[in-house]
Amino acid sequence: MNITICFASLPPEPWVQAVLTAFPEASVSAWTPGAPQADHAIVWAPPQQFIDEQPGLQTLFNIGAGVDALLQLKLPSSLKVVRLDDAGMSVQMAEYVCHAVIRHFREFDGYDTDTQTGKWSYRKPRHRAEFAVGVMGLGVLGERVAKALQVFEFPVNGYSRSAKDLPGIRCFRGAQGLPEFLSATRVLVNLMPLTPETENILNQGTLSQLQPGAYLVNVARGKHLVEEDLIKLIDSGHMAGATLDVFRTEPLPADHAFWNHPKITVTPHTSARTLREESIAQIVGKIQALQRGEPINGVVDHQRGY
Ligand code: NAP
Ligand code: GLV
Repeated sequence: MNITICFASLPPEPWVQAVLTAFPEASVSAWTPGAPQADHAIVWAPPQQFIDEQPGLQTLFNIGAGVDALLQLKLPSSLKVVRLDDAGMSVQMAEYVCHAVIRHFREFDGYDTDTQTGKWSYRKPRHRAEFAVGVMGLGVLGERVAKALQVFEFPVNGYSRSAKDLPGIRCFRGAQGLPEFLSATRVLVNLMPLTPETENILNQGTLSQLQPGAYLVNVARGKHLVEEDLIKLIDSGHMAGATLDVFRTEPLPADHAFWNHPKITVTPHTSARTLREESIAQIVGKIQALQRGEPINGVVDHQRGY
């Protein structure tokens, strides 16, 4: 059993050591051009050359939930692509989104500004019923986030491709359900995969259908959002602000308008980090299941794009 590791922008050595520890019977190495054929690969945004030089690969294990960077490559249709299936991400995402929603709802940024100037000021409590949170994407991460928001008694709406029935969550589906979902939502949380269908889906036309005083939390991919449209809607007063973890260009360029916008909070693609030990335990478990001829979760549908 040969396992190769190929990361675009991450040193592979700690992963090689950790996979060897978790799976001592495997031969594990970091990929270099011309390396011998492997049976399985653990990857993040590998180059096309890697795919072309490894025609014998059975499985590509992506060390993230989103596979958009992988599906941009020319992949043999028979190659099994497997995404990370939570592996400690959903609790991080729930923390991040609840923090962003509560910070906005309770106006903690305003209190910070006041206390920095020694001002003791109360703000009028807002009505939770007027802060419906809409979670776009009810998959592994979105469903966990929606349930975490319910704990704080926000009204929660959900949006997905297929129909869902989640207790206490108003679920909408498909393009025909989008206008009703948006108009019922004050705080929009994006947790959809980036696919040709969802690219640029957060734009003037969709964001302007949100309730007045809307807020965006984008934790999925930068290319979902038409960035200029968000700035226009915030500056015109229709939207109250945004918390953004992902951007069309990462790292966010030094001169980007988001950095210093008073109503936009920026974080460096950190809402749900890949946890090495949890991820390796999951991947090794799946390789062993495949060896036993058993089915595994998290296999990506190339056509659907996630
Ligand atoms: P997932 O399990 O694949 O769930 C995706 C959800 O989006 C599903 O509910 C799916 O609907 C829905 N969806 C897909 N296409 C749609 C469309 N055209 N219209 C409506 N709904 C659509 O994905 P996940 O594990 O929850 O992760 C979601 C994304 O989060 C990833 O793809 C990645 O880009 C991003 N992410 C970001 C970070 C970060 O640190 N910022 C970390 C991890 C992941 P169905 O249920 O009907 O299939
Ligand atoms: C991170 O962005 C991931 O897709 O896991």
